[in-house]
Amino acid sequence: MTAEPQKSASTEFTNPNLEVLFSAEQIRNRIAELGKEITTDYEGKELVLVGVLKGSCPFLADLMRQIDLRMTIDFMAVSSYKDGTRSTGDVEILKDLSNPIRGKHVIVVEDIVDTGLTLSRLLEILGSRGAESIKLASFLDKPEPRIKNELKIDYTGFAVPNKFVVGYGLDAAGRYRNLPFIAVVRDPANA
Ligand code: IMP
Ligand code: MG
Repeated sequence: MTAEPQKSASTEFTNPNLEVLFSAEQIRNRIAELGKEITTDYEGKELVLVGVLKGSCPFLADLMRQIDLRMTIDFMAVSSYKDGTRSTGDVEILKDLSNPIRGKHVIVVEDIVDTGLTLSRLLEILGSRGAESIKLASFLDKPEPRIKNELKIDYTGFAVPNKFVVGYGLDAAGRYRNLPFIAVVRDPANA
């Protein structure tokens, strides 16, 4: 008799290898707060949200719908060079902004700031383009092991421990971006 292969009842969203850190509801509530804050801070100003592809997509989409102002969005894609698993701070622009930011108030929207090397370099590049102001919104802040300690995050969703997290835009080798929550992968070898 041949044994039937075990069919798991779990789906991608109910994968037992994922430990939920922030639920969809917690995320929704926090983003509503951030949206209110930004709406107040940028009243009467020409605001552009610049999403860093691809990880910031869900955050940008939810955040902009909580900002009750006249505003626009744009995107950049960068690749950060890694030395092993650590980013080196060398950043290549894969996709640049579609429109100039001269005279505009810019908020760069990121999924997570880890070492801060990628963001520091990106802000340097954008800093030379004549924007009226440039601030940073990061959905997650992983303060350990920050290398660029001078990097200031103006709007943060949540702080996370020094663990690899996925979901809500964040991936592991391209997977998990579609999770509506943030989770830690319990056993990365068994993903
Ligand atoms: P860094 O701040 O230059 O170290 O790099 C930040 C980038 O590394 C982020 O934009 C993510 O793409 C990726 N990253 C860092 N930590 C995590 C994590 O816990 N999960 C998924 N991606 C991460
Ligand atoms: Mg990223």
